[in-house]
Amino acid sequence: MDICQAAKSGIGECREMTGVLYGLGVGPGDPELITLKAHRLLKECSVIAYPAPDDGQSFARSIVASYLKPEQVEIPIIIPMRAERFPAQNVYDRAAQEIASQLDAGNDVAVLCEGDPFFYGSFMYLFERLSAHYTTQIVPGVSSLMASAAALGRPIAARNDVLSVIPGPLDDDAISRRLERGEAIAFIKVGRHFERIRQLIDKAGLTSSAGYLERVSLGNEKIMALEEVSADEVPYFSIILIYKGAEDWIGKLSMLGVGEPADTVHV
Ligand SMILES: C[S@@+](CC[C@H](N)C(=O)[O-])C[C@H]1O[C@@H](n2cnc3c(N)ncnc32)[C@H](O)[C@@H]1O
Repeated sequence: MDICQAAKSGIGECREMTGVLYGLGVGPGDPELITLKAHRLLKECSVIAYPAPDDGQSFARSIVASYLKPEQVEIPIIIPMRAERFPAQNVYDRAAQEIASQLDAGNDVAVLCEGDPFFYGSFMYLFERLSAHYTTQIVPGVSSLMASAAALGRPIAARNDVLSVIPGPLDDDAISRRLERGEAIAFIKVGRHFERIRQLIDKAGLTSSAGYLERVSLGNEKIMALEEVSADEVPYFSIILIYKGAEDWIGKLSMLGVGEPADTVHV
């Protein structure tokens, strides 16, 4: 999709002869789970930007590290990891300025986004700041949600099931309401909220239909029954999938790595 919001909205202007800004989905972790388009752009863009925590390595960069070349300019966007300082608007203001300088110089910039850029991705903060002024393309990626269903060996939703995605930081009442009326449910941003979420799922009588997954598609991926999870070891990169939709056969499926082994081969 080619977007210059300026052209559509009349706000700002799409400058001529500038570089193109790409929001590049790089998938959930396995370097093979990136699209051919993302792979091509990773090689072609002279500037690569990516979010990185202030206390470690960039996950998005680590996924594509083997595809990067030394001559590419890298712009790490250092994000403070403490919740109370997020979203760090000044971090994105500064990053947007740095990226804008590269675009003004005619360089194409790929911003790496773990999973898909428009599915709860932090790329949105840059999109908001830059897409009115520069030609911007979003390259969708394999979302962690899709990779989780594949790893669990159970469809997320079928026919007319309504899928609810619940961010872990929501308060108890909001989560319980959604659990009650949900059909197919995915919890993201589980991490430090795990124990609270587990208790709410239990209260709703849904523990047996919940699958827990962490670091999906990476070498240290784990898939477990909810009651087996040790709450103090749950990482940020974890997801809980619940199915209570209309398809009985899905509800009865044995989840890979959870309970009885299924016949399905896990690749
Ligand atoms: C801010 S959201 C970003 C989602 C991402 N844009 C996507 O499309 O998957 C971060 C959440 O995605 C989930 N997540 C991302 N990658 C994951 C992985 N490899 N394994 C398990 N969960 C993951 C976790 O719930 C994490 O807290």
